[in-house]
Amino acid sequence: MPPRSHLKARRIDCGFPLRKIILIVFSQVEFAAVNSAASDKMSAVNEAPQTQPQPTNPATAASGTPTGPQRLSTRIAAIAESATLKVDAKAKTLKAEGRPVIVFAGGEPDFPTPQYIVDAAIAACSNPAAHRYTPAAGLPALRQAIADKTLRDNQVTVDAAQVLVTNGGKQAVYQAFAAVLGPGDELLLPAPYWTTYPEAAKLAGATPVEVFAGADQGYLVSVEQLESARTERTKALLLCSPSNPTGATYSREQITAIGEWALAHGIWVISDEIYQHHVYDGTEFVSILAAVPALKDTCILLNGVAKTYAMTGWRVGWMIGPADVIKAASNLQSHLTSNVNNVAQYAALTAVQGDLSAVAEMATAFDRRRQLIVSMLNEIDGVECPTPTGAFYVYADVTGLLGRDINGRTAATSAELAELLLEEAEVAAVPGEAFGPGGYLRFSYATSDADIAEGIGRLQKLLA
Ligand SMILES: Cc1ncc(COP(=O)(O)O)c(C=O)c1O
Repeated sequence: MPPRSHLKARRIDCGFPLRKIILIVFSQVEFAAVNSAASDKMSAVNEAPQTQPQPTNPATAASGTPTGPQRLSTRIAAIAESATLKVDAKAKTLKAEGRPVIVFAGGEPDFPTPQYIVDAAIAACSNPAAHRYTPAAGLPALRQAIADKTLRDNQVTVDAAQVLVTNGGKQAVYQAFAAVLGPGDELLLPAPYWTTYPEAAKLAGATPVEVFAGADQGYLVSVEQLESARTERTKALLLCSPSNPTGATYSREQITAIGEWALAHGIWVISDEIYQHHVYDGTEFVSILAAVPALKDTCILLNGVAKTYAMTGWRVGWMIGPADVIKAASNLQSHLTSNVNNVAQYAALTAVQGDLSAVAEMATAFDRRRQLIVSMLNEIDGVECPTPTGAFYVYADVTGLLGRDINGRTAATSAELAELLLEEAEVAAVPGEAFGPGGYLRFSYATSDADIAEGIGRLQKLLA
């Protein structure tokens, strides 16, 4: 197989293709929903008494469905639904219908939030002070605790004023992009990438520029690739290490080289470090700001409690950056969502002030599952699954399965393969098309050992 990585960058317009992928994967269910809505409308029309024609709204079609190219703003209409959340939701719906679906789509630890954190939230619920707004940028004590944690875990010294508490890491991504990117700007986006990044960049008016690194280079882009994608419009680079979706982690040497390159060209680095505590095999997590401190005026760190403390539902994240950027993003947030839920901030305060023992326990389980899923996937002829060093995802190259007869059916793309696996084995994984080029499936191993054995066992049987 020729190497899949290349030096070429690709400007992304993923809104339509992503929607198309989702339609392909879940065509049956969605068609059922569309058909049933259509037939409801038909019966309504057939049963309607014959009356005088009513004046019609010019923006409403005869069917009653609102139409018109200008109903939605161009920017919002271009946003694709989160492919990962959609796959996860669909699989959960099938499960709720009683189908024994094994879901490898989710991006959340399957552990409960540690009890001492829950207890802090319970106490906050009974504290009238926690029933009020906090400053939009967050509880001062939480901002300070995040600054302290960042020094402890990232070896980066920041002031509390450089921390903005956000509604999850996702809001931090949006606000970081909104703060530094605008129309005409290009964002270098190493691919495979987390599905939210291109949409968030486009919302800021910027153009995401995909720089692809395949399994042959460990899903890690090189400085040479970044340099060849750089133009005079390049404003920022997004880095996610450990990575969602690949689990790849940049070494100190690699991250230093990238940081120095960005510094030399005045390019902002937006570093998503939300999986920093999920590293295996002695892999070192290195924050780019610790590796290249001179980036301090052009670097934004993104993080949150979701993955580290099994707190996905609590919605607490943060961004850390130069004071002017944090002030601007706080202004934006003050008009957008104001402060994060006050009780959740108290829970996060306890989480970040505490030690990392709960995280270590979860990491032991993740490590075991990682090894299990990698070895089982690699036993399937046609699947090549590198062993990831971080996060809780494996990213398998499945090009060897495309075009092959599977129960009398074939899949030409990884999107079609994901659909086929869901139907034939009731196993849900997210196709590579959600994260950049197709040919891959992402499996999250934030699920039980038993589900991994059963789910990948089903694939082994189907694909034998
Ligand atoms: C790479 C990455 N960054 C940020 C987030 C956002 O996390 P949350 O908004 O749940 O804090 C996620 C969630 O899946 C992620 O995978």
